[in-house]
Amino acid sequence: MNRIVVLISGGGSNLQALMDARVADIVLVVSNRADAFGLERANKAGIATCVLPLKPWLAAGGTRASYDADVAEHVSVAQPDLIVLAGWMHVFSPSFLDNAPSKVINLHPALPGKFPGARAIERALAAAIRGEIAETGVMVHEVIPEVDAGPVLGTAAVPILPTDDLAALATRMHAAEHELLVEVVRKHLAPPPVSSS
Ligand code: GRF
Repeated sequence: MNRIVVLISGGGSNLQALMDARVADIVLVVSNRADAFGLERANKAGIATCVLPLKPWLAAGGTRASYDADVAEHVSVAQPDLIVLAGWMHVFSPSFLDNAPSKVINLHPALPGKFPGARAIERALAAAIRGEIAETGVMVHEVIPEVDAGPVLGTAAVPILPTDDLAALATRMHAAEHELLVEVVRKHLAPPPVSSS
């Protein structure tokens, strides 16, 4: 089975979706926050975890670039075929990507080119209330130094209903994320078709 490392910062519902779908062997979960609920999910499933907070690293004189390289080193030890950022809230500098041992993909709660960065769901809802959009969506893309950009591996549109508040829209968005992330990881790790010639 293919090996993946998942990086999280919070609840880990997308990590849970990957765990439930059994699309790959999750060999390590990395969190930048010790209180991320996703760590509990991993522990419960017997998956190795590691917590790498940025603040103490910087307080000890480290730089952002050396922190990113350190995260890449921890990830490398697990020898993943794919690295999945599933709610990882740090923007990586090139020093992570340069040292990453495999492709890095990211999940973002917006369609390509729309609402990059934080609070994407909230900003989409505000745009809908202003009458500017009637749908938003989720995407999975390859990670490049630019935030929430890079070759798109999959998208799913999510309608914004007139009755939506943030909680209702977020619930629909997360359900779409769980499905899309599993689908993209499965596709990415699928063995190439055997040629008949
Ligand atoms: C997701 O909406 C993801 O797109 C965003 O952070 C959220 C993480 O949710 N960047 P969870 O931790 O997987 O529940």
